[in-house]
Amino acid sequence: MMKILIVGKGGREHALAWKGKQSAQVSEVYVAPGNVGMKDVAHLVNINETASDELANWAEANQIDLVIIGPESSLVAGVADQMQARGIKVWGPTQAAAQIEGSKDFAKVIMNRYGVPTAAHQTFTQVDEALSYLEKVGVPIVIKADGLAAGKGVVLPQTMDEAKACVVDMLEDNRFGDAGARIVIEEFLEGNEYSLMCFVHGNKVVPMMMAQDHKRAYDNDEGPNTGGMGAYAPCFTAESEETAIAVKTIMQPVADGLVKEGMPFTGFLYGGLILTKEGFKTIEFNARFGDPEAEVILPLLESDLVDVILTMLSDNPVPSVAWQSGYCVGVVLASEGYPEQPETGYPLKTVAVDESINMIFNAGVAEKAGQLVSNGGRILVATGLGETFDEAKAHAYALMKAIETEGTFYRTDIGHRFKG
Ligand code: AMP
Ligand code: GLY
Repeated sequence: MMKILIVGKGGREHALAWKGKQSAQVSEVYVAPGNVGMKDVAHLVNINETASDELANWAEANQIDLVIIGPESSLVAGVADQMQARGIKVWGPTQAAAQIEGSKDFAKVIMNRYGVPTAAHQTFTQVDEALSYLEKVGVPIVIKADGLAAGKGVVLPQTMDEAKACVVDMLEDNRFGDAGARIVIEEFLEGNEYSLMCFVHGNKVVPMMMAQDHKRAYDNDEGPNTGGMGAYAPCFTAESEETAIAVKTIMQPVADGLVKEGMPFTGFLYGGLILTKEGFKTIEFNARFGDPEAEVILPLLESDLVDVILTMLSDNPVPSVAWQSGYCVGVVLASEGYPEQPETGYPLKTVAVDESINMIFNAGVAEKAGQLVSNGGRILVATGLGETFDEAKAHAYALMKAIETEGTFYRTDIGHRFKG
């Protein structure tokens, strides 16, 4: 039997730990640092998710058989590199390969070099050059901080005044610190947005079902961009023609490209895709599972997650991955003030779940005097499963109504673009 370590502390890691725990091969699941809301499935290890040396020391000392890395911060800190250096099996890309997420400019270079459809764009460090480019291309437009800004470094100005103010804000007034010292200005793509996650190891690419996230804070896609306020799956199943096309035109060429560049990718590769009139185009890659996408995709995964990962890492041919029928809808309970200034410390209710229809994945939670309290912008994800989308949604919202409490808010329209 195996001992696995999940690195991270959010709802995604709770979902990975929950699914990992179900594996026929796994006896113990550890999460570093995790959160108290994961104790149902995992042992918490008090090491920060970016402390790569300490994590590798601990994994070595505790004879961990497989490490699964959740967040981008761990990847950029070189946790996978450290594990590899010690000969510990790890699912998650090296620092070099994780640049596909960590640097939007790097991602664009790879996409252009390997013919992957994406928005037309240009990179700037100088305010005057950026402003004159804006004059040339006009609005609507998309302005992105080049580095990691926790999903918040993207602005979609509708007027030229807004666009110019944003450029000045990022390049001159350092709104995103170093992450915004370089910006990418790109074409605004029109169409529905989908998240496609694949299991990737070198040239091996195995797609999951596509999910749809909801990035804006409030109903009707209003308010500021967030890390994600809710998601549902599948939009397109793993076996669909749409998914096959996206793999062929986007995910496989990028995986192959990273191999050619001498930085092969291992882990969950996430394509943020927009289905335009000309087909799928990429707006970004992430080097990890999406959050909250993980919380709606993993409950539908029928195969043993650890089996799939081990087969990917082996010399064996790619595994066939089985999915449950039906849908999963996940709604994020957020702290009032999220994403700018989340107010935390509110007591949370304990609500019973029935895993055949609903689940709770905990993210920003802590324990205070024996009571679970909110402790982050995104507190938890309430998920519902159902044979139909409507049933899954009803299960998710029934659960959320039982959970919601003072100091929190959530979107009431998750899945509003669902087409059936
Ligand atoms: P990102 O952090 O790159 O995922 O961007 C955050 C959000 O901004 C995305 O989820 C999209 O909804 C939106 N977005 C980013 N790039 C574009 C684009 N080129 N065209 C239209 N919308 C975009
Ligand atoms: N939900 C989007 C992300 O994980 O980046």
